[in-house]
Amino acid sequence: MTDTSHPNETLSTIFSRSSYRGLFTGTPVPRHDLETILRAGIAAPSGCNRQTTAFVAVDDPDRVARIKQIFRRPSCDTAPAFILIFTREIPGVDGHNYNIEDFSAAVENMLLAIKSLGYESCWYQGGIRNCLEPLRAVVRMPDPYRLICLLPVGVAAEPLHSAAEKKPFGERAWFNEYTPDAVSYTHLRAHET
Ligand SMILES: Cc1cc2nc3c(=O)[nH]c(=O)nc-3n(C[C@H](O)[C@H](O)[C@H](O)COP(=O)(O)O)c2cc1C
Repeated sequence: MTDTSHPNETLSTIFSRSSYRGLFTGTPVPRHDLETILRAGIAAPSGCNRQTTAFVAVDDPDRVARIKQIFRRPSCDTAPAFILIFTREIPGVDGHNYNIEDFSAAVENMLLAIKSLGYESCWYQGGIRNCLEPLRAVVRMPDPYRLICLLPVGVAAEPLHSAAEKKPFGERAWFNEYTPDAVSYTHLRAHET
């Protein structure tokens, strides 16, 4: 198992975050914690500061229940709250749309805030693709915002797993210049022949 401990609190949170798909306890998430998580999303950088990402935290039991009926996942069945992340396109000064990068930064900020406050979550994006409009209707978000991601938020009721295995450092990161990793290089050579 990877050692996730680090004396720095921020880095410790980064290294200990992992996708949680287990059950949640019934403990509600207080409004002030949800607001902190939303503020972490708002605090994220955005291309040309266009702030293309918007957020809705759902803690109202009726709406929480409707989300669970639409998006059926064992872990989401027990979640006391959800955060829905929306994106829209607003070109930057260079004419480019940075909204994908914007919401990615915001979601990661929120996942780290969720972890630091003692909750767990998972970035659900592919999984909600077939129910985007019904989920958007639950929170009545108007056009031009598109729903892009859903985060359950709650206290874990099951043991945490470590983050999914990451490729070795030497296959993904270098100092000063790319250097083939001895192991993967051998592997590549084997495929060349
Ligand atoms: C863009 C994106 C979409 C994702 N969509 C889903 C999803 O629909 N369902 C799911 O269970 N996990 C989803 N995940 C979580 C990834 O599966 C997870 O981050 C990855 O396996 C690495 O595990 P870790 O988060 O524990 O490090 C998504 C993550 C990203 C960044």
